[in-house]
Amino acid sequence: MLALASMKGGVGKTSTSVNLAALAAGTGLRTLLWDLDPQAGATWRVGVDPEPVNAARTVVRGRRDVARLARHTRVPGLAVLPADDTLRSIDIAMSEKRHPARVLSKTIDRLADAYDLVIVDTPPGLTVVMENLIELADLLLVPVEPTPLALRTLGQLQHFVGERSTNVPVAAFFSLLDERKVAQRHLHAEYRATDPVFLTTSIPHSTAIERMGAERLPTVVTSPSALASRRYRALWGEVAERLDLV
Ligand SMILES: Nc1ncnc2c1ncn2[C@@H]1O[C@H](COP(=O)(O)OP(=O)(O)OP(=O)(O)O)[C@@H](O)[C@H]1O
Ligand SMILES: [Mg+2]
Repeated sequence: MLALASMKGGVGKTSTSVNLAALAAGTGLRTLLWDLDPQAGATWRVGVDPEPVNAARTVVRGRRDVARLARHTRVPGLAVLPADDTLRSIDIAMSEKRHPARVLSKTIDRLADAYDLVIVDTPPGLTVVMENLIELADLLLVPVEPTPLALRTLGQLQHFVGERSTNVPVAAFFSLLDERKVAQRHLHAEYRATDPVFLTTSIPHSTAIERMGAERLPTVVTSPSALASRRYRALWGEVAERLDLV
């Protein structure tokens, strides 16, 4: 299980989750994109209309039929576990459980029977769901804008993970990189060279990525030769290696 994570909103978690999910499915892995954000941005971007599926209750109860909620997407071989409005209150529902991690792990075990890879898109913030997900994920992937504030929130996330003494590896990558901005260029070069949490690949600021909201298909599907798609393929290569999928 790969989980996107970030304290900061609007950094490219959802855009990354759908593109990596499309690439994974393209290699023949049975892939599930799990949308845990009530904004339903991942569900939307793979061409599925958000519908009420009682998503929060299904997760919190660890229901046996969770895999039945999965829908086909417009991307061949890719399924999505859609988000709905009930996810707005999932943190409250989770915190009322005596063993929230155990419930979540039951849900994940059920999905693991049907899929080789689950990619989870999460809402921004260090939420109760995130607190429990980090105990179960095989890799946390954190998009980071090349700005001092974004780097600070990455530090906070690493501290949050460290405090919970889970062994989940954290990998970050620069997102929304605008090479025309000198300050971004410098931060990007410095951190990528010195901070081992950063992967080699960075995702540029790209209109091809922005268009996903209207096209409702991943960039790697609609614009495979765009720079952004080449970078997503490189990112997938690094992530797949960390997950021992290659
Ligand atoms: N590399 C990029 N270049 C240009 N626009 C981007 C890029 N990545 C994301 N965006 C745009 O920025 C906005 C936020 O992106 P996205 O939804 O992927 O971020 P997020 O971290 O999931 O946000 P949230 O925290 O709200 O869930 C979207 O409108 C998206 O189209
Ligand atoms: Mg998002």
